[in-house]
Amino acid sequence: MNQTNFEWTPEFWQGWRESSNPYRQYKSERDRHLVIELLELCTHDRVLEVGCGYGWISQALWDAANIEWTGVDLSAEMVGRLRAAYPRRGDRTLLADARRLPFRDGEFDKVLCTGVLMHIGENKLAVRELLRVLRPGGRLLCSINNALSPFSIPVRLWNWRKKGFVQKFQLPRSFRRLLRDEGLLLGGTAGDGIIATVPLSIGRFHFPPVSISSSVCKRDEWVANRFPWLAYELWFRGLKAA
Ligand SMILES: C[S@@+](CC[C@H](N)C(=O)[O-])C[C@H]1O[C@@H](n2cnc3c(N)ncnc32)[C@H](O)[C@@H]1O
Repeated sequence: MNQTNFEWTPEFWQGWRESSNPYRQYKSERDRHLVIELLELCTHDRVLEVGCGYGWISQALWDAANIEWTGVDLSAEMVGRLRAAYPRRGDRTLLADARRLPFRDGEFDKVLCTGVLMHIGENKLAVRELLRVLRPGGRLLCSINNALSPFSIPVRLWNWRKKGFVQKFQLPRSFRRLLRDEGLLLGGTAGDGIIATVPLSIGRFHFPPVSISSSVCKRDEWVANRFPWLAYELWFRGLKAA
């Protein structure tokens, strides 16, 4: 089922999430804020985080509310790192594929899948699974890479030399249709940065220069809030139809 020979490792992803590049720091913090704002956690919510990685977003979820969290990831190394770093959460962290989740129908109140669907070739299967394990009336929050972003073409060209690395860019309209067809009553859409995405994607080059990064990020926030459909990563949220 796994169509890629690219291996996600905690070293790679932690290096990205906690990089010294101010544009990446901005994106990583903004992702945490967006997830917390959009997921609307309540005490004792049963929350499933699919593709939890080494736990960057998970930590924000644990801090935000007293929830019953479960995390899954396809990478044994990611799961191992999360279990080692947070032993209390260890038995709630499983090795599993988003396209075949080891849970009963309707087992969760909230399902989160951020930064993952763009790395799965057949993500329709994953979307179906995310909705299957969500209870009727429960909330789904998931993200894709946006084909309308000005950076989708340069990033695809950049990725071309990375063998086996999957990074899909999808049209918001067709992803929305998929979510609706699978039974989601769509709520809002939110986007991450737009201008700061260039140095994010082509990590080694700092363009615009680091010296003006804080004002670039401030403007980026302003633009992203007004024109989410131009964003690089787009979040969709909604409630599962009863
Ligand atoms: C870009 S990282 C995002 C990690 C985390 N969600 C975050 O935002 O920091 C992508 C993660 O998705 C996981 N992943 C990729 N394909 C998967 C699949 N089919 N099922 C579950 N996890 C998958 C990878 O192992 C990796 O940890």
